[in-house]
Amino acid sequence: MLLIGLMSGTSADGIEVALARLEEKKEERGGVSRELVGHATVPMAKAVRAEVLRIGEGARVTAGELSQLNFRLGEEFAGAVLKGCKKFGVKPQQVDLIGSHGQTVFHQGKPVPFLGRKTASTLQIGEPAVIAARTGITTIGDFRVADVAAGGQGAPLVPFADWVLFGDEKVGRVLLNLGGIANVSVIPARGNPAEVFAFDTGPANMVMDALVAGFTKGKKRFDAEARMALRGQCVTGILKEFLKDPYLKVRPPKSTGREYYGREYVERAMKLGKKYRARPEDLIRTATVFTALSVVDALNRFVLPRVDIGEVLVSGGGAKNPLLMAQLAAALAPVRVRTVSELGVVPEAKEAYAFALLAYETWMRRPGNVPSATGARRPVILGKICWA
Ligand SMILES: Nc1ncnc2c1ncn2[C@@H]1O[C@H](COP(=O)(O)OP(=O)(O)O)[C@@H](O)[C@H]1O
Ligand SMILES: [Mg+2]
Repeated sequence: MLLIGLMSGTSADGIEVALARLEEKKEERGGVSRELVGHATVPMAKAVRAEVLRIGEGARVTAGELSQLNFRLGEEFAGAVLKGCKKFGVKPQQVDLIGSHGQTVFHQGKPVPFLGRKTASTLQIGEPAVIAARTGITTIGDFRVADVAAGGQGAPLVPFADWVLFGDEKVGRVLLNLGGIANVSVIPARGNPAEVFAFDTGPANMVMDALVAGFTKGKKRFDAEARMALRGQCVTGILKEFLKDPYLKVRPPKSTGREYYGREYVERAMKLGKKYRARPEDLIRTATVFTALSVVDALNRFVLPRVDIGEVLVSGGGAKNPLLMAQLAAALAPVRVRTVSELGVVPEAKEAYAFALLAYETWMRRPGNVPSATGARRPVILGKICWA
């Protein structure tokens, strides 16, 4: 089968489109032979991105605005598929299935009191019915809700794909995705999916991005190649304050997002910058070092004492930040740190590739969640199918 995976993460910087070929093959890991055939990043319309970020911060919105944005985003995702097909040189008719993660606008993984009853919920928008209608390709979306309905947190969902795509017989691996937030999947050597565990370690690019956008008045959205950070110095006093972050000490499973590392967090960081008289490049460097240390701290506390790990495989846009990569490699040696590109997967494509695989599993009527990662009572088949 030829599948397209679609992903837009918490950075909402662009839509990742992955083209994958998947096939039943008993002797392969997970019973599936797989190949990432192509990848494209399609930017999101500026006004749409701004609205996504606003809602993601918890702004008040009407049901009407949310409904409209759901369909508007569906058009964005469909447009990204058609652009991707052009780039890959395949006709939409040749594509069998789309797996679309959608854009998370709300996530409450743990039940909280609501209208007299403890309730958990999650909402990804970008209407799959619109994607199916515009592309003519049957589309599976809404992957997280079945896991939440089964008592899970609905996240993380990539561990199953990480296990199939990157698990190894000899080497224990940590898959580290550096998107807006940093998350890890821990895959012991020879392990089965039930031994996989995963959690968010804290921020990846979210805080650095917001500082860069703030200092450049929106002219730059991120610190390309860590150029600004490389001109600055790490301010120890600020770093110490960052490291007091209570999230770092919370035991996994745990997840976080824009509601914690968003606008208010960055405003506090800016205030610290003023207090310590840090230059913009100093504060950005300090945030970069903090990001690396928060990942290292999580691995030292919760992973390396329990599991024999040989290497960390990095994906997501943060894999392109040389300072971040260098800090991780230095702090984790002799554990080897490298990007998934060395295993033939474009770092930015990994999450989208994972959703192609999850759609495939759903198509084959197989579960795609890992209960040890999400806390669900049982493995469940994920997603909702919109027929073309
Ligand atoms: N060339 C680069 N140099 C440094 N950082 C980069 C580069 N390209 C992308 N990034 C970072 O990666 C982020 C996007 O990563 P991505 O994996 O798409 O996150 P998300 O899943 O949250 O959308 C950007 O916001 C930026 O911070
Ligand atoms: Mg992105």
